[in-house]
Amino acid sequence: MIAPSLLSADFARLGAEAQRVADADWLHFDVMDAHFVPNLTFGLPVLQALQKVSPVPLDCHLMIENPERWAPGYAEAGARNVTVHAEACTDPRAVARDIRAAGALAGLAIKPGTSLDGYLDVLEDFDTLLVMTVEPGFGGQAFMPEVLPKVRRARELVESGHLTLFVEVDGGIAADTIEQAAEAGADVFVAGSAVYGADDPAKAIAALRARAAAAFSG
Ligand code: DX5
Ligand code: ZN
Repeated sequence: MIAPSLLSADFARLGAEAQRVADADWLHFDVMDAHFVPNLTFGLPVLQALQKVSPVPLDCHLMIENPERWAPGYAEAGARNVTVHAEACTDPRAVARDIRAAGALAGLAIKPGTSLDGYLDVLEDFDTLLVMTVEPGFGGQAFMPEVLPKVRRARELVESGHLTLFVEVDGGIAADTIEQAAEAGADVFVAGSAVYGADDPAKAIAALRARAAAAFSG
């Protein structure tokens, strides 16, 4: 699945920007609070407004402190998937339970420096693992191939039946990096600048999807 990130869209025309990627699978919505990450974007009222007009299911990536307090609201608003950061949660299982109870898929995100080891048990309660392939906070950064062993490990756990998860990658995904991520076993690809920075976002999505499908080993 290809999930364009609105972080690289024109914030003055968010509804129209969602329409421009109508053939995407998920629309990635990066919530930043200027505390968990050193940047500030948009939050629940914007998600609620966008939910009414987006032709694509919304994929919320909460880069915020105290996600326990906010994550269920995004699910109640109708988001398809709500992802919280492992580093920000005191009880990831409880957050997953609340997100699912509110009707969304539950995702757990890990920063490049965070090991998967400490979270293997709690992942049973999640639907999505988001492996950050840049440091969270900004679009347009360089892809970090050194995190791909975590993608590979997650894919093995899914293939062996130990976990049922989407394995999502986020950061620096473009035509020249998506194959490595797909080959490692990712099946959801967030792309901000590679989609919204292109002259024709629909064409960029199709090209990314074709490259990923050809390389996916899962
Ligand atoms: C970064 C965000 C990403 C960002 C990716 O913290 O989580 O979703 O939009 O942007 P690109 O694809 O430009 O690296
Ligand atoms: Zn993101």
